[in-house]
Amino acid sequence: MSRAQPATGAIPEREQWTGQVGFILAAVGSAVGLGNIWRFPGVAYESGGGAFLIPYLVALITAGIPILFLDYAIGHRFRGSAPLALRRLGGKLGEGIGWFQVTIAALIAIYYTGVLAWAASYFVFSFDQKWGDDPTGFFVGEYLQASDGATTPFTFDFVPGVLIPLVLMWIVTLVILGAGVVKGVQRANVIIIPLLVVAFVALVVRALFLPGALEGLNEFFTPDFAALADPGVWVAAYGQVFFSLSIAFGIMITYASYRRRRSNMTGAGLVVAFGNSSFEILAGIGVFSTLGFFAFQQGVGVGDLEGLSGVGLAFMTFPAIVSEMPGGGWTGALFFGTLTLAGLTSLISILEVVIAAIRDKFGMTRAQAVGGIGLLAVISIVLLGTSSGLIALDTIDQWTNNVGIVAGAIFMTIIVIWVKRRGGELSKHLSAVSTFKVGRLWVLLTGLVAPAVLIYILVAKLIDLATNGYEGYATWYLGVAGWGSIGLAILAAIVLPLVTWRSDPDEFTAWPTNEQLQVKGGRR
Ligand code: ALA
Repeated sequence: MSRAQPATGAIPEREQWTGQVGFILAAVGSAVGLGNIWRFPGVAYESGGGAFLIPYLVALITAGIPILFLDYAIGHRFRGSAPLALRRLGGKLGEGIGWFQVTIAALIAIYYTGVLAWAASYFVFSFDQKWGDDPTGFFVGEYLQASDGATTPFTFDFVPGVLIPLVLMWIVTLVILGAGVVKGVQRANVIIIPLLVVAFVALVVRALFLPGALEGLNEFFTPDFAALADPGVWVAAYGQVFFSLSIAFGIMITYASYRRRRSNMTGAGLVVAFGNSSFEILAGIGVFSTLGFFAFQQGVGVGDLEGLSGVGLAFMTFPAIVSEMPGGGWTGALFFGTLTLAGLTSLISILEVVIAAIRDKFGMTRAQAVGGIGLLAVISIVLLGTSSGLIALDTIDQWTNNVGIVAGAIFMTIIVIWVKRRGGELSKHLSAVSTFKVGRLWVLLTGLVAPAVLIYILVAKLIDLATNGYEGYATWYLGVAGWGSIGLAILAAIVLPLVTWRSDPDEFTAWPTNEQLQVKGGRR
């Protein structure tokens, strides 16, 4: 391949990471988040313990890494936010998928900030263990003042204890985003990620030395192979990998578009994917060692403990454990501090998806786009800062993750590989710029295995949600906040491609060119 100079298009050259390390730190910062610390240990425990590692690894290899590479390839080759890059690849149809993913990212940001606000509050509460003798009652009653999901799933009763950290979290995030890719996003990650790794390793090592830790680890790693026959376990594994790797909702397309043209994409991708999974497994080890200690203190088995997943695990069970631990205040502060920092770097990446998209489409400056995100902040504050915040979080999370991200991945893989037939071009692109080469196997995984499994998962989930509802929440509410979220993303996918671009998105030549890659131009 000749080393021709990159061609430039009408939309100005993008901001760029300073190099490979900056990109890897930002991508790891995006991947490592609530998904690793708050979600993985509980999902793994509920879905077969040690046996869950099998569907998890299968999901990582058959869909996680292939779609991570697909996101990278699209963003890097077509140099744009999700709608712009996919538009250059696949015309209006592609752009629609881009907007679908951007909307899902925006919806995730709405509740993600809420969890960060809680984590930041609990960081402060840890020092004097403000939750007292009844952490569950404190969390649901005193802190969230939670309303009842069946009767009052939506209220306007603002809860100052949640509202204030929520507003602060939005301000911090918008300030970082306003400072730009290098001075804001990259700098935040360069500072936070090393801090996070040190703090988290310290936390896990501390947990390993607690009495009962071994029992907890046994519980976590002892496989329940019967669970593998349950399709729900496989659904959980794929959902976990997608959310955790930050794929198929525009993030990695956006982050890859800020890389120089000559950049080792797949090499970096493997570092990010395995770094993320290592962090996840480390979190599982830390959490289950701690649960082992808790069970030991109470004289019960780990399996007899309740509240071992998601919100319950972090904000009810963990505080109860902290209260029983010698020096628990510091452990609590370390846990909630790492949760906040890990989540912050992910939230930044989720919002950058929206910022990049509206900048590309409407020709806005970064400051204008960040201002526009203020609208999202207001929605988030209204939904999460009230006594019905927990219900909003739970519902939007359920639909965006299990339906939105999975559907976005299915649409993207089918359109890119089958409808537009760009698999060969993208695989040659990745191989031309990277050290780890990909080829037919990657196209096969991305175009066949991943969508086949994902379609099965999506259909199963849709049937489940349509038949059983969710958590007993009021049906009208699930219609608005759950199904409505997906409806909104579909609407965006249909309407926004009809809106005129500020600059011609198609005036663009990919590099390396199709001739250099020796591929035929794909269909638009
Ligand atoms: N990848 C991010 C997380 O795991 C979104 O929380």
